[in-house]
Amino acid sequence: MNLVKIHDREFEILIDPRMVKLRIEELGKLITSHYGERCPVVLSVMHGAVIFAADLVREIGAPLEMDFVRLKSYSGLESTGEILMTQKWERDLNGREVLIVEDIIDSGNSMQFLKKELLEAGAEDVKIACLLFKPKAFKFNYDIDYIGFEIGNEFVVGFGLDYDGHGRNLAGIYQLKSV
Ligand code: IMP
Ligand code: MG
Repeated sequence: MNLVKIHDREFEILIDPRMVKLRIEELGKLITSHYGERCPVVLSVMHGAVIFAADLVREIGAPLEMDFVRLKSYSGLESTGEILMTQKWERDLNGREVLIVEDIIDSGNSMQFLKKELLEAGAEDVKIACLLFKPKAFKFNYDIDYIGFEIGNEFVVGFGLDYDGHGRNLAGIYQLKSV
């Protein structure tokens, strides 16, 4: 499937499912060798990152715990700039190593916000794994520890990412077709 229509827009394939799978396997190996037996908390950002997180944790051959947060920033095709944590993690993160798993880093606002919240909650170390990164849109200079793919500024859907709630179940990553 190279072309999909969601609501009023057409999207074309950017990264096929096989490439995504291979890259997640590579990230899993890097993460495994970093944490060894130390048991980080893998904190997935809902809803977008849950599909990436589900595949990624199965490529990590080390003990870990999973937890979830829900952040909200986007409405339709635009980032609103204001970040809300509409659901908080459950575990006590004091003294824990946390690996945030995010679908995409765009302006960087959401991860700046979440990193700060986690450090305030006493996390000993916070690292970030994102499937997609838009370097041209990134407005901060913190480190992103594990990046699946760098992409341009085009809006993308699939593999967890949505356009107004739709497209999350697409197995590949699709970009908005320019008109
Ligand atoms: P940031 O705070 O600007 O880095 O935006 C990150 C959040 O915006 C991500 O977690 C996504 O939920 C959403 N987002 C950013 N770019 C896209 C996109 O191209 N497609 C779908 N969601 C996106
Ligand atoms: Mg998100």
